[in-house]
Amino acid sequence: MQTIIGTDLSAAAELLRRGELVAIPTETVYGLAANALDTDAVLKIYETKGRPAFNPLIVHVHDAGEFEKYAKEVPALVKQLAEKFSPGPLTFVLPKKEVIPDIVTGGGDTVALRVPGHPLTLKLLSQIDFPLAAPSANPFGYISPVTAMHVMDQLDGLVPMILDGGPSMIGVESTVVTVENEKLLVLRLGGVSVEDLKDVAGEIELRINQSSDPKSPGQLKSHYAPRIPLRLGRMEDLLSEFAQKKKALLCFRDSRADETIIAQEILSPSGDLHEAARNLFAAMRRLDRSGAEIILAEKMPATGLGLAINDRLERAAAG
Ligand code: TXA
Ligand code: MG
Repeated sequence: MQTIIGTDLSAAAELLRRGELVAIPTETVYGLAANALDTDAVLKIYETKGRPAFNPLIVHVHDAGEFEKYAKEVPALVKQLAEKFSPGPLTFVLPKKEVIPDIVTGGGDTVALRVPGHPLTLKLLSQIDFPLAAPSANPFGYISPVTAMHVMDQLDGLVPMILDGGPSMIGVESTVVTVENEKLLVLRLGGVSVEDLKDVAGEIELRINQSSDPKSPGQLKSHYAPRIPLRLGRMEDLLSEFAQKKKALLCFRDSRADETIIAQEILSPSGDLHEAARNLFAAMRRLDRSGAEIILAEKMPATGLGLAINDRLERAAAG
C-alpha cells in the first residue's frame, strides 16, 4: 500500500467512507482514525497498531452536542466541562448507546467521547456523517506521534493516508474523565490540568490506574516507551548513578555538561510546562535514535501539565 501525506480533506473523507484508515492531526497527538460505527474499519486500527482488541478507543465527534447521539446520558457536569474545554484535550467516558459497536469499547458498556481541537480534523468531521474512532497513531506501546512525519516513520505502507496538520500544539494525550455519583474522576492525566478541572468541577478524584489492566492501555504501567532504557528522577542523582554510561539527557530547563552526554534535549529553557509538553514526544524520539545506551529524564515540577508529563515519563521508565 502506498501512503499519501497531504491536506486533501475530500480524499481523506472518501477513504474513511470506504472503511479505510486515515491518520489525523489533533492538538494532542496524531490519531489513527476509522469510521467508529463500522466494525470492520475499526478492526483495521487494532491490526495496524498491533494493539490488543479489548482495549477501548476514543470516539471523536464534531461538537459536544453530538454526545447525546452516542451516550445514554450526559451528566450536567459533563456539559459544563464540555462548554469550557471542548473542542480540546478532554475525553469523557459515558454510558454508551447501542449504535457504538463493541469493538470500539472493548466490549464494555461505556464509550469515550472527545471533540478534538484541531481545525483540519474538525473540518473533516463536518464532511462525514459518522464519528471517528482513533487511538494515538503509534505502534502499541511506543511514543505517540506529534507530527505527520512521526506517523510516516512507523506506519509508511500500512495506512493509505496521513492528513498533515502540522505539529500537535498540546503534545500530550487528552485528559480522560468520567462522572461517578456526581463526582469527577480523572482516569488519565493529560492536556487539561487537574487545577483547571477543579475550577469547574470542584472536588475531583484521581483514579489513575498504575496496574497492568489491559482495558486501559493509556494506563498501562509500561507505555510510551522508547527502545533504549529510560530512567526518571532528579538529574543530579541520575548523573551520578549512571556516571559511566553513554547517555542521552531529557532536561526541563537547564542543560548539563559532561563528556559522556552524547545527546541532550531541553524541553523548555524558560520553564514553561506547556512548552515542555509540546516538545516532549519529539524529544524522546530523537534521544531514542541518538545512539546512547540510556536516556536520563528529569522529573518535572508536579503542577499543571507537569503531572501529565511525569506520568508519561514514569510509564516510559517502566518499559
Ligand atoms: O489525545 C488523545 O486522547 C489521543 C487523540 C488521538 O485523540 N488519543 C489517544 O487514544 O490517546 P489512546 O487509544 O492512545 O488512549 C485512549 C485512552 C486509554 O487510556 C483508554 O484506556 C481510555 O482512553 N479509554 C477509552 N475508552 C474508555 C472507556 N470506555 N473507559 C475507560 N477508559 C477508556
Ligand atoms: Mg496511545
